[in-house]
Amino acid sequence: MTRILMVCLGNICRSPLAHGILESKLPADKFTIDSAGTGNYHIGKLPDHRSIATAKSNGLDISNQRCRQFERSDFDNFDIIYVMDHSNYENVVNLAQTSEDKNKVKLILQDAGLTMPTEVPDPYWGDSEDFEKVYTLLDNACEKIAQRLTN
Ligand code: 4NP
Repeated sequence: MTRILMVCLGNICRSPLAHGILESKLPADKFTIDSAGTGNYHIGKLPDHRSIATAKSNGLDISNQRCRQFERSDFDNFDIIYVMDHSNYENVVNLAQTSEDKNKVKLILQDAGLTMPTEVPDPYWGDSEDFEKVYTLLDNACEKIAQRLTN
């Protein structure tokens, strides 16, 4: 089993989408996908209604997800930790206790080989178009990652 964690700040906009998208592209008997946020603002909440709507319009149901905060034990429980932006990267790496922990943390677009942009922009203060852009970026990245992981 390969265990993959998606991380953003709030765990209500970007990482729930990344979680749902990658999960839909990988066989469930070989991969476990989860998501978490570095912040504690929305623990226990559903994903943002705009992320749920954007996922739904693309055929994905992410309404079963609940927000949780990233914790140190996630380094032991996951093989790959994908972060959305440089700020997430700093927040997660600051909790790493070994170089092995640190090496698990990767910027998702960079790891997928997508170079522009380098970060998945936070759509929280934006509109539905911003959520659609995030969806497209994550779908492209997850497609590349899933192909690599299954080849
Ligand atoms: P996310 O977006 O990191 O993509 O889930 C955010 C959601 C909430 C907040 C910030 C970013 N917030 O400040 O509450």
